[in-house]
Amino acid sequence: MISKTTMIKIRNTSSALLAALLFTLGSSAAVYAADISKGANIYATHCTACHGASGVSVMPGTPSFAQNGGLLKPDMTLLATIKSGKNVMPSFQGVLSDRDILDVIAYLRTFN
Ligand code: HEC
Repeated sequence: MISKTTMIKIRNTSSALLAALLFTLGSSAAVYAADISKGANIYATHCTACHGASGVSVMPGTPSFAQNGGLLKPDMTLLATIKSGKNVMPSFQGVLSDRDILDVIAYLRTFN
Protein backbone atom coordinates (compact mmCIF):
# COMPACT_ATOMS: atom_id res chain seq x y z
CA MET A 1 0.00 0.00 0.00
CA ILE A 2 1.49 3.36 -1.02
CA SER A 3 1.15 6.03 1.66
CA LYS A 4 -0.37 9.41 0.95
CA THR A 5 3.02 11.16 1.39
CA THR A 6 4.64 8.81 -1.11
CA MET A 7 1.84 9.55 -3.57
CA ILE A 8 2.39 13.28 -3.14
CA LYS A 9 6.12 12.77 -3.60
CA ILE A 10 5.52 10.79 -6.78
CA ARG A 11 3.12 13.42 -8.05
CA ASN A 12 5.57 16.24 -7.29
CA THR A 13 8.42 14.36 -8.93
CA SER A 14 6.42 13.68 -12.06
CA SER A 15 5.24 17.27 -12.37
CA ALA A 16 8.85 18.40 -11.96
CA LEU A 17 9.85 15.96 -14.71
CA LEU A 18 7.00 17.18 -16.88
CA ALA A 19 8.01 20.78 -16.30
CA ALA A 20 11.61 19.92 -17.21
CA LEU A 21 10.43 18.11 -20.33
CA LEU A 22 8.18 20.97 -21.41
CA PHE A 23 11.00 23.43 -20.78
CA THR A 24 13.36 21.36 -22.91
CA LEU A 25 10.81 21.01 -25.70
CA GLY A 26 9.87 24.67 -25.50
CA SER A 27 13.41 25.92 -25.58
CA SER A 28 14.55 23.54 -28.31
CA ALA A 29 11.70 24.83 -30.47
CA ALA A 30 12.64 28.44 -29.76
CA VAL A 31 16.41 28.09 -29.92
CA TYR A 32 17.90 27.86 -33.34
CA ALA A 33 21.11 25.87 -33.63
CA ALA A 34 23.60 28.62 -34.36
CA ASP A 35 25.95 28.28 -37.30
CA ILE A 36 29.38 29.28 -36.00
CA SER A 37 31.10 29.30 -39.40
CA LYS A 38 28.44 31.62 -40.79
CA GLY A 39 28.94 33.72 -37.65
CA ALA A 40 32.68 33.88 -38.36
CA ASN A 41 32.02 35.28 -41.85
CA ILE A 42 29.60 37.87 -40.53
CA TYR A 43 32.10 38.83 -37.84
CA ALA A 44 34.87 39.27 -40.42
CA THR A 45 32.65 41.55 -42.49
CA HIS A 46 30.95 43.66 -39.82
CA CYS A 47 32.81 43.52 -36.54
CA THR A 48 36.59 43.25 -37.00
CA ALA A 49 37.09 46.98 -37.67
CA CYS A 50 36.57 47.61 -33.93
CA HIS A 51 36.63 44.24 -32.17
CA GLY A 52 39.65 42.86 -34.07
CA ALA A 53 40.00 39.73 -36.18
CA SER A 54 41.14 37.65 -33.21
CA GLY A 55 38.72 39.22 -30.73
CA VAL A 56 41.36 41.58 -29.36
CA SER A 57 39.95 45.09 -29.53
CA VAL A 58 41.57 47.40 -32.08
CA MET A 59 39.62 50.48 -31.07
CA PRO A 60 39.70 52.24 -27.70
CA GLY A 61 36.60 51.61 -25.62
CA THR A 62 35.75 48.42 -27.48
CA PRO A 63 35.55 45.19 -25.47
CA SER A 64 37.99 42.36 -26.28
CA PHE A 65 36.02 39.17 -26.71
CA ALA A 66 39.25 37.20 -26.32
CA GLN A 67 39.30 38.42 -22.71
CA ASN A 68 35.60 37.75 -22.23
CA GLY A 69 34.90 41.47 -22.58
CA GLY A 70 31.24 42.26 -23.09
CA LEU A 71 30.19 38.63 -23.19
CA LEU A 72 29.08 37.97 -19.62
CA LYS A 73 25.45 38.45 -20.60
CA PRO A 74 22.81 36.11 -21.97
CA ASP A 75 22.57 35.72 -25.77
CA MET A 76 19.19 37.47 -25.88
CA THR A 77 20.61 40.54 -24.10
CA LEU A 78 23.56 40.69 -26.52
CA LEU A 79 21.16 40.24 -29.46
CA ALA A 80 19.16 43.28 -28.31
CA THR A 81 22.33 45.37 -27.82
CA ILE A 82 23.77 44.45 -31.22
CA LYS A 83 20.45 45.30 -32.87
CA SER A 84 20.14 48.65 -31.14
CA GLY A 85 23.83 49.58 -31.09
CA LYS A 86 25.59 50.95 -28.01
CA ASN A 87 27.34 54.31 -27.89
CA VAL A 88 30.06 54.13 -30.58
CA MET A 89 28.86 50.74 -31.82
CA PRO A 90 26.39 51.17 -34.70
CA SER A 91 22.96 49.52 -34.80
CA PHE A 92 22.79 46.35 -36.88
CA GLN A 93 19.00 46.41 -37.12
CA GLY A 94 18.08 45.97 -40.79
CA VAL A 95 21.69 45.03 -41.61
CA LEU A 96 21.78 41.63 -39.95
CA SER A 97 18.85 39.32 -39.17
CA ASP A 98 18.30 37.93 -35.66
CA ARG A 99 19.67 34.61 -36.93
CA ASP A 100 22.78 36.29 -38.31
CA ILE A 101 23.34 38.00 -34.98
CA LEU A 102 22.82 34.76 -33.04
CA ASP A 103 25.36 33.09 -35.35
CA VAL A 104 27.85 35.89 -34.59
CA ILE A 105 27.20 35.62 -30.84
CA ALA A 106 27.91 31.87 -31.00
CA TYR A 107 31.17 32.74 -32.79
CA LEU A 108 32.06 35.42 -30.18
CA ARG A 109 31.77 32.73 -27.51
CA THR A 110 34.50 30.68 -29.24
CA PHE A 111 37.13 33.38 -28.59
CA ASN A 112 37.85 32.20 -25.07
C1 HEC B 1 32.41 51.02 -34.94
C2 HEC B 1 33.01 50.07 -34.05
C3 HEC B 1 32.24 48.81 -33.74
C4 HEC B 1 31.74 47.88 -34.63
C5 HEC B 1 31.82 47.87 -36.13
C6 HEC B 1 31.15 46.84 -33.81
N1 HEC B 1 31.25 47.14 -32.48
FE1 HEC B 1 30.58 46.03 -30.92
N2 HEC B 1 31.16 47.46 -29.66
C7 HEC B 1 31.83 48.62 -29.98
C8 HEC B 1 32.02 49.44 -28.80
C9 HEC B 1 32.71 50.77 -28.73
C10 HEC B 1 31.43 48.71 -27.73
C11 HEC B 1 31.32 49.16 -26.27
C12 HEC B 1 30.03 49.94 -26.13
C13 HEC B 1 29.88 50.51 -24.73
O1 HEC B 1 29.80 49.72 -23.78
O2 HEC B 1 29.89 51.74 -24.63
C14 HEC B 1 30.91 47.47 -28.31
C15 HEC B 1 30.30 46.48 -27.58
C16 HEC B 1 29.92 45.27 -28.07
C17 HEC B 1 29.39 44.19 -27.28
C18 HEC B 1 29.19 44.19 -25.78
C19 HEC B 1 27.82 44.75 -25.51
C20 HEC B 1 27.56 44.94 -24.05
O3 HEC B 1 26.39 44.85 -23.69
O4 HEC B 1 28.49 45.21 -23.29
C21 HEC B 1 29.13 43.17 -28.14
C22 HEC B 1 28.57 41.79 -27.78
C23 HEC B 1 29.47 43.62 -29.45
N3 HEC B 1 29.96 44.89 -29.38
C24 HEC B 1 29.34 42.86 -30.59
C25 HEC B 1 29.57 43.35 -31.87
C26 HEC B 1 29.30 42.59 -33.05
C27 HEC B 1 28.77 41.18 -33.09
C28 HEC B 1 29.63 43.39 -34.11
C29 HEC B 1 29.50 43.06 -35.58
C30 HEC B 1 28.20 42.60 -36.03
C31 HEC B 1 30.11 44.64 -33.57
N4 HEC B 1 30.06 44.58 -32.20
C32 HEC B 1 30.56 45.69 -34.33
C33 HEC B 1 32.25 48.98 -31.23
C34 HEC B 1 31.92 48.33 -32.40
